[in-house]
Amino acid sequence: MTVSRRQFLGYAGAAVTVSQVAACDGVEKVAVEGIPSSPFNRDSTAEEVTEGIDLSGKLAVVSGCTSGIGFETMRVLAKRGAHVVGTSRSLEKARAACSKVDGQATPAKLELSDFESVVACAETVRSLSMPIDMLVCNAGYRGGGNQRQLINGVEKHFVVNHLGHFVLVNRLLDRLFLSEQGRIVVVASRAAYRGAPSVGIDFDDLGMSRAYSDSAAYGQSKLANVLFSLRLAELLRGTGITSNSLHPGVINTDIDRNLNPVTRFGFGLLTRIAGKTIPQGAATNCYVATSPALDAVSGHYFEDCNAITIAEPSHMHDMAMAAKLMQISEELTADYLLEQEPQDWSEVENVSPPNKEDS
Ligand SMILES: NC(=O)c1ccc[n+]([C@@H]2O[C@H](COP(=O)([O-])OP(=O)(O)OC[C@H]3O[C@@H](n4cnc5c(N)ncnc54)[C@H](OP(=O)(O)O)[C@@H]3O)[C@@H](O)[C@H]2O)c1
Repeated sequence: MTVSRRQFLGYAGAAVTVSQVAACDGVEKVAVEGIPSSPFNRDSTAEEVTEGIDLSGKLAVVSGCTSGIGFETMRVLAKRGAHVVGTSRSLEKARAACSKVDGQATPAKLELSDFESVVACAETVRSLSMPIDMLVCNAGYRGGGNQRQLINGVEKHFVVNHLGHFVLVNRLLDRLFLSEQGRIVVVASRAAYRGAPSVGIDFDDLGMSRAYSDSAAYGQSKLANVLFSLRLAELLRGTGITSNSLHPGVINTDIDRNLNPVTRFGFGLLTRIAGKTIPQGAATNCYVATSPALDAVSGHYFEDCNAITIAEPSHMHDMAMAAKLMQISEELTADYLLEQEPQDWSEVENVSPPNKEDS
């Protein structure tokens, strides 16, 4: 990825590591030491954070490209020159979204709750025969009405938001490895620490039969997003592939489509008053996917284009829970996983950096 002089100066000016503490939404957030702080903030837009970055010749995959921040992410990555594969549960909708983009966008069908569909989507991407530079796991589901739904005995948010992306990443991992610097960007949410059950991920009750609410289920799935990304980063250390997760902000998108009309009205009002616009909401997606400052940054969680940790107790950095999540996810999706090269993810640990020119 190339960078303009203006952007270089911006990064250079901001590359001092500061240990700042922010508490905008009542939660103490601490900047991560050793990660360059970015010149961008909650008001920055996806176009601003990618200005001057040339993505020509790069391939990006963006799940959930038909609305909200997924569409904006696809649009801006394509505008910067990337070839973007944009997914939707409906090929027609994906086609329509891709046709609105100024640049190269290829539609693909993806239903994350159906692992056959995930495998087929990965095959569509693989048929392009290109390394993957950016895999943005953006698609998301949030239920309404507190009606628990199960898919093969597992609660739906966990399946759609986590397991579906888990299979997608597995099926595309070797293509990320072939990139000069492949990036996995997992779009999580601050619900990972605000909404998840107090135990974190309740592995003994993934059907959530004991206590169900939409917000706990959504929060648990978003905690799974964060921990999956964290564990991936550890397993992929030394491969050149990075993995990071993020909260995009609170944005008035269709994520509230299943809420009852009154709650939906309230969410719409709140996001209009105190939330981000969609261009602002897609900024952290695009920043983490493209910033030259993050070439070697992996295993972190971002808000407003900066890596942060949560000061108060949470499961966001629970490595044991992350390892258990990986093991359980493998068991639940075993029939759909590829034996990736290196063969076993546990063996990827500590491999020496590959000579990409040999690939
Ligand atoms: N908006 C916010 O305030 C907010 C806050 C924190 C985190 N997030 C996260 O940001 C991401 C994007 O959300 P958004 O706000 O842009 O919401 P959105 O407008 O509802 O977009 C969601 C996208 O996900 C796709 N999708 C939904 N269910 C799917 C499934 N079962 N399989 C495959 N794709 C599916 C949808 O595509 P089709 O309907 O075309 O299939 C759509 O393109 C989500 O992961 C969300 O959790 C959003």
